[in-house]
Amino acid sequence: MRHLIVAALLTLPAPAPAMPADSSAYAIVPRPVVLVPRAGAFTLTARTVVHADPAFAGVARRFVRDVANPTGFDLTVVRRATAGTAAGGGIVLVHRAALGPEAYTLDVSPTRVVITASGPAGAFYGLETLKQLLPASIYRDAPLGNTTWRAAAVHVEDAPRFAWRGSHLDVARHFESKEFVKKYINLLARHKMNRFHWHLTEDQGWRIEIKKYPLLTEIGSCREQTLVGPYITNPKPSNFDSKRHCGFYTQDDVREVVAYAAERMITVVPEIEMPGHAQAAIHAYPRLSSRPDSSPGVLQVWGVSDFILNPTDSTVAFMQDVLTEVLALFPGPYIHIGGDEAGKAQWKANPQIQARITALGLKDEHEMQSWFIRQMDTFLTARGRRMIGWDEILEGGLAENATVMSWRGMDGGIAAAKANHDVVMAPGSHTYFDHYQSLDKSKEPLAIGGFTPIDSVYAFEPVPPQLTATEAKHVLGAQAQLWTEYIPNAKHVEYMAYPRMVALSEVLWSAKARRDYADFSTRLPAHLARLDALDVNYRKQ
Ligand code: ACM
Repeated sequence: MRHLIVAALLTLPAPAPAMPADSSAYAIVPRPVVLVPRAGAFTLTARTVVHADPAFAGVARRFVRDVANPTGFDLTVVRRATAGTAAGGGIVLVHRAALGPEAYTLDVSPTRVVITASGPAGAFYGLETLKQLLPASIYRDAPLGNTTWRAAAVHVEDAPRFAWRGSHLDVARHFESKEFVKKYINLLARHKMNRFHWHLTEDQGWRIEIKKYPLLTEIGSCREQTLVGPYITNPKPSNFDSKRHCGFYTQDDVREVVAYAAERMITVVPEIEMPGHAQAAIHAYPRLSSRPDSSPGVLQVWGVSDFILNPTDSTVAFMQDVLTEVLALFPGPYIHIGGDEAGKAQWKANPQIQARITALGLKDEHEMQSWFIRQMDTFLTARGRRMIGWDEILEGGLAENATVMSWRGMDGGIAAAKANHDVVMAPGSHTYFDHYQSLDKSKEPLAIGGFTPIDSVYAFEPVPPQLTATEAKHVLGAQAQLWTEYIPNAKHVEYMAYPRMVALSEVLWSAKARRDYADFSTRLPAHLARLDALDVNYRKQ
């Protein structure tokens, strides 16, 4: 996919002249492949007409709705085949089949703005770039009354380097409202990111309504209290907040979020964790337990729980029932089944599970887990979907159609790509945004550990040198991880996510040769003004 997009872009006519630094007048983030400054500026007024090819009418209406609040303009959209209209004034969205699916060109002149694209995503991204040429108050919710909506003239040719440009968000350790999830998605779209990985189930809470198994949320979405401070296992933690922590999304909430994301060209990837990180489900339905003699509760501390699903046929059927409802809610191709950090102590100690391992002809607990995950892979593949899991799904044998999310460094991703499996890179070293942003921890809120400042994120290279060009095609892209054990509220999520997400968006979108931290740093202040207008609690550098 990635190579097709770049190849399509290379068919564009205008050759790129030698590039000056993109000055703050053109503070486009992520940086376009080609940006040629032109003289003059286009002024958006109440009389500006948006001429949209019928394929882009929805994108045009979304743009008009977006800019209505900050400008006070009720712009007219004219829906028509636009090939002949580019010579007129206004904003013109032209269909151009030769471009890749997310590619666009943007020409701003004093009389008009012309965007060409082959699909709605490209048209959407062209309009996002146009917004970045306008004053930052284009991101506000009401007119300030003193703004001239000038966009500096420019020629842009652009397409993403990677097809998977994502962010994960853990709403299970700490629940986040539907409204915040939408804000988070909206911000990703502003950075031309296109995957939202919604981590919905955990030891500490089950956060998605499943109609067939109502106790998952009736019981599993609440924990009685939460650890305060760092998680230390010896001595056992004793400092808790004495507050119930609850929350889940109804299926209508999920539908709303998925539709909201789709309007912004973002595919939601739901994660239903198995066989580990499932203590809340086990507490709600004890028959899922690998240790039926003990009631685990919904976990109140962090770390890795011993409680994991019992890999019986009945558990497989239960989880496939859950997935059936998940598939109906999430139309995207990928379903994430977790697979990480499933400690095997309970499987080792349970004679029935040991007997099952023998009866199935499996070698050990890793093969047992691989068998369990394969049941999900077969189930999802038969329904036309693709299973993705954390890199532990390599252990005991990788399921046939699995895509691997490489989090314990890049090695899992390298092994999977070499075995002809697709890969999303998510290494702790560069993409775990729950890590500290400064070495001076005394000035930072408590975090899980690590040190991943914005320049480390910017330096991330998702394609490891160990891969041949053919193997590298399996690297779909990469994503940020926002685990929320130590991130208790929305403002704190924003503090950890931004501005690191800005750097990651450029890693994932911009051509490798266009990545330049010094240039990025000159564009960042203008971009932070946009985040201010959007009320983002980013970390001040
Ligand atoms: C993970 O961080 N356990 C995927």
